[in-house]
Amino acid sequence: MRGKFITVEGIEGVGKSTIVPFVQETLESEGQKVHVTREPGGTELAEAVRGLLLSEWKETILPQTELLLMFASRAQHVATVIEPNLKAGTYVVCERFSDASMAYQGGGRGIDDTFIESLAQLTHRETSPDLTLYLDLDVDESSVRTQSRSKDRIEQEDLEFFQRVRDAYRSLAKKHRRIVTIDASRSLPEVERAIASALEDLNR
Ligand code: TMP
Repeated sequence: MRGKFITVEGIEGVGKSTIVPFVQETLESEGQKVHVTREPGGTELAEAVRGLLLSEWKETILPQTELLLMFASRAQHVATVIEPNLKAGTYVVCERFSDASMAYQGGGRGIDDTFIESLAQLTHRETSPDLTLYLDLDVDESSVRTQSRSKDRIEQEDLEFFQRVRDAYRSLAKKHRRIVTIDASRSLPEVERAIASALEDLNR
C-alpha cells in the first residue's frame, strides 16, 4: 500500500517545527513507518539550493529566480525522496511544499498562480499531499513570536508581505478539502488535539 503524504504549512512562528515531531510520533505510535523532511531541502542538492535561497546577496533576487529555485529543489526532492518513500508504503511528513510557493511567491511576491500551477504540474504531477495541516496565526502574533530569532533573507520581509502570504494560505485552505486549518493561537495541547483528529480522519 502507498504511504500517505502529509505537509505542514504556515507563516513563521506558528509552531511547524514543534508540530512535525508530534505528527511523526502520532503516526509511528499507530505502527506507520514515517520519513520526515522539509522544503526547500530534503536532498543533498536541494539543501544546497536552500542555502542559496535563504542567504543574503548583494544583488536583488528576482521573484522568478526565487520561484524557479524553489521548484528546482522540489523536483529533485519529489523524485528522489518523496515518491520512493510513498511507493514503499512509508508516510512522508514534509515541512512546507508547493502551497508555500503559492503563498510566498504567489501571494507574497505577486507571481501569477497559473505559472506556479504549471511548475507544480511539471515537477510533481503524480504527487500531491493527502493532508495539509495549515497552522493559521495573525501576522502581529507571528512577529512577536519570532522577534528574538535570527532571520533569513525571506523572514526579513515586512508585515505587509506576511499578511499577503497569510491571505494566500487562507484562500488555498478555502479551495482545497485536503487542507485542514488549525488555529495556532491556541495552547499547544489544543493544537495537538486538532492535529490528532485530522490524522484520525486521514486514516479512516
Ligand atoms: P523555514 O521553512 O525554515 O521557515 O524556511 C524556509 C523559507 O522559505 C521560509 O521563509 C518560507 C520560504 N519558502 C518559500 O518562499 N517558498 C517555498 O516554496 C518554500 C517551500 C519555502
